[in-house]
Order: sequence, then C-alpha cells, then structure tokens
Amino acid sequence: MIAVAAVLLPLASVSEGDNYSDLPGPYCATRRGGCCYGRVDECSVPVLGTLCYCDDFCNETRSIDCCPDFMSFCLGLQPPLEIGSCYHNGLYYQFGETVKINCNLCKCQQAGNKVELLCEQNECLVEPEIILRINSGGHHFNWRASNYSIFWGRRLDEGISLRLGTLQPQKVVMRMRPVTPVYDPWRIPRSFDARNKWPGLIEGVRDQGWCGSSWALSTASVASDRFAVMSRGLEKVQLSAQHLLSCNNRGQRACQGGHLDRAWLFLRKFGVVDEPCYPYTATSGFLERCRLPKRSNLLTARCKPPAHPQTVLRTELYHMGPAYRLGSEQDIMYEIMESGPVQATMKVYQDFFLYRGGVYHRSDYGPQSVSGYHSVRIIGWGEDVTQREPIKYWVSVSCCYEFLAWSA
Ligand SMILES: *[C@@H]1O[C@H](CO)[C@@H](O)[C@H](O)[C@H]1NC(C)=O
Ligand SMILES: *[C@@H]1O[C@H](CO)[C@@H](O)[C@H](O)[C@H]1NC(C)=O
Ligand SMILES: *[C@@H]1O[C@H](CO)[C@@H](O)[C@H](O)[C@H]1NC(C)=O
Repeated sequence: MIAVAAVLLPLASVSEGDNYSDLPGPYCATRRGGCCYGRVDECSVPVLGTLCYCDDFCNETRSIDCCPDFMSFCLGLQPPLEIGSCYHNGLYYQFGETVKINCNLCKCQQAGNKVELLCEQNECLVEPEIILRINSGGHHFNWRASNYSIFWGRRLDEGISLRLGTLQPQKVVMRMRPVTPVYDPWRIPRSFDARNKWPGLIEGVRDQGWCGSSWALSTASVASDRFAVMSRGLEKVQLSAQHLLSCNNRGQRACQGGHLDRAWLFLRKFGVVDEPCYPYTATSGFLERCRLPKRSNLLTARCKPPAHPQTVLRTELYHMGPAYRLGSEQDIMYEIMESGPVQATMKVYQDFFLYRGGVYHRSDYGPQSVSGYHSVRIIGWGEDVTQREPIKYWVSVSCCYEFLAWSA
C-alpha cells in the first residue's frame, strides 16, 4: 500500500579532526584511480560525511586526515608487528586485550600459529560500509545516510526488536475493506503538510527509546493530532502512549511489539489518559505494569483535569472512533487534508536506521533476511522536483525521526 522511508532528525555527526584509524576499511584501496600526488579532492575517499586522503601529503606521521590504509595500500608498507600483539585497522592491541568494535567484542588472541584480533560476527545496526555505499551515489537513491550515535555499537537484531515494534498485521486487517471517500481529485495539491494547515496542533517527534513500542506511540500520536484537529485546537492534547503500552496487554507484546487494530480497539472501548497523567517511561526498555484499572475516568485516575481553554471540564478518558483502512494514494491524501495525519506500517531493513535526509527508498544493502514492521505517522506529502523525474514522497514521523518516504 504505502512504501514509506524515513528522515531522521540530526542526532550525531562526525566531529572535526576525528581520527578514523579504527574504521573498518578499505579506503584508499577502494579508489578507482589508485593513490595520487598533490592534495586535490579527487585524492579523497568519503568517510561518513567527510573525506580522507590518499595522497603524498600522507607520507608523514602528522597527517590526521589520511585514510587508515594509506601506509599499507599506497606505500605498500606493512606496519611493524610487535611480537605478541595484534594489529587491526591501524591500531595495536596487546595480547589478551579485549575491545568492543562497533557491536562486536574482539579479543587479541592466539589463532593457529599467530596472534590475531578475533571478533564476534554480529551484524551491527550501523555498518559504516553501508553508509559509504549509500552516500557514494551511483545508484538510483537520493537519500543520505549517516552514523547515529544512539545506534552505534548496537546489534541489528536489537534495533529490529527494540526500535520498531509493530506485529505483522493479521489477515483480517489486511482484508479490511477500505473506505472510499468521495471527493474531487483535482482538489488534492501536489504537496501538503498538516503542520501548515493546523499550526501548533500536530505533534513533533517522540522518542520510543529501546522499546519496540511504535504500535503504541504512533497510535497515540495520530489520535492526539486528530483530537486537536477535530476540536479545532480546543482539545489539544498529547495522549499517553504508556497507557496503551502498559494496559493494552491482551494479545499485545508491550516493548516487543503490538497490533495496531488492537490498540485502536482499546482506544475506542476504554480510552486513554493524557501524557502528563501517564508519562512514557519505557525509554530504556523497562516496562511499568498497568496502573490504571479499565473504565477509570480522569478523576479516579487522579489526573489533573486538562486545562483546555474554553472547554467544559473533561472527566472522561479520551476515546476514538473505530479505525478504518484507506485503499489508494489519493484517498490517503484526501484523508490527511480533511481530518489529519494517518498511520502506516512499513517493513524496515537495516538501512532505515542510517537515514539522514532526502527521500528514503530501500536499498538492497545489508542483510535482506532481517526486517521488522514499524508504524509511523504520515503528516503530508510532496514531490522532489530536483531530480530528472519528480519523486513523490510521504512526509512521515517515526520513533525518532521525521522522514520523507518514497511513495510508489
Ligand atoms: C615518504 O617519505 C620518506 C621520508 O620522508 C621518503 O624517503 C619516501 O621516498 C617517501 N615516499 C613516497 C612514496 O613519497
Ligand atoms: C589515532 O588514534 C589512536 C588511538 O586513539 C592513536 O594512537 C593515534 O596516535 C592517533 N593517530 C593520529 C594520527 O592522531
Ligand atoms: C559513530 O558514532 C559513534 C558515536 O558518536 C562513534 O563512537 C563511532 O566511532 C562512529 N562510527 C563511525 C564509523 O564513525
């Protein structure tokens, strides 16, 4: 239905003067023209958003902007191996020393008749090589990748289980008959952003932390936006995702993921309180047990009555009507324009965690057998007309990023 991809908010960037010697190479060895003389940009190789050099200025120990494999590749020099130590990507390790390289624990140890740094072989959430491949262009994507410090050092399976968190939609949901709104398709603009139509009423990015709660977070956010939009700002509220996470536990798996239809059913039958009343505490993966009995109201929940301007005192929890499915791209657009953001589920692979900007479109880099479902909120759409052919995208918000997702 929707192919969505992501735009992360800037969280981390490589600091200047960084020493890249522990980056897995090869660098100079990837240059098509080999090594070169004279410091010109063509002598360089990208390293996570910056460049390292493979030129004769590197033939001195002071250069800090040289590729880690300059000495070995360009000059053919093997670094002197000290007896009983390991050499790996420009660094020495003592015999018996352990070191964590990205998400893998490594140890300098005896391997056969030599001493070697042996590492665990986990797939990591951030693989520098994939960042380089995505950013080096030459393929049909126009998005940029980078190293997010929150993801660095984590395994791919941790990212899939704890940074996404939507269970695969069941057949009954996939077979739900879409509603078909009636409208004039010519009224649908080429681009739209709910934040411009309803300033101040659309939620920003919420961080789910290391808890697979996108099912609860995206549902709470879409519901919050719709309360604000439907009430024309009179009931601008941030609904509690924690309430869903802790209390909507039938058939749901909390920080291990949940079903969207069950979340919406819970919102319809029981309702939830607002964020200040039941704040999100699952950021580190710790799950609080449900502390609100079903069918409580805001008074029995001992919440401060929300201070909505010019409204009657609300004592009921916030309920939503039933969820429905939309069948076509234009129907989704019309829905967002008329009623506010919608929820979508996307299948996520490793490269999504590297998204920094542009229109995300899944690459085939990284393991294709490892994926998870992620629920996001679509708040608008647009077209990138800077390319030869305009690229249509959805403007979406997920756990920790706002992103532009390629729309098929
Ligand atoms: C590198 O520097 C050394 C000492 O300055 C010099 O002898 C050598 O020829 C240089 N090598 C290259 C390839 O420029
Ligand atoms: C790079 O970092 C390593 C370890 O931190 C250090 O031993 C080495 O001297 C540094 N190299 C440069 C060129 O700064
Ligand atoms: C990625 O970011 C982390 C944290 O900022 C840093 O420690 C790590 O060295 C970076 N990795 C690469 C390959 O730049």
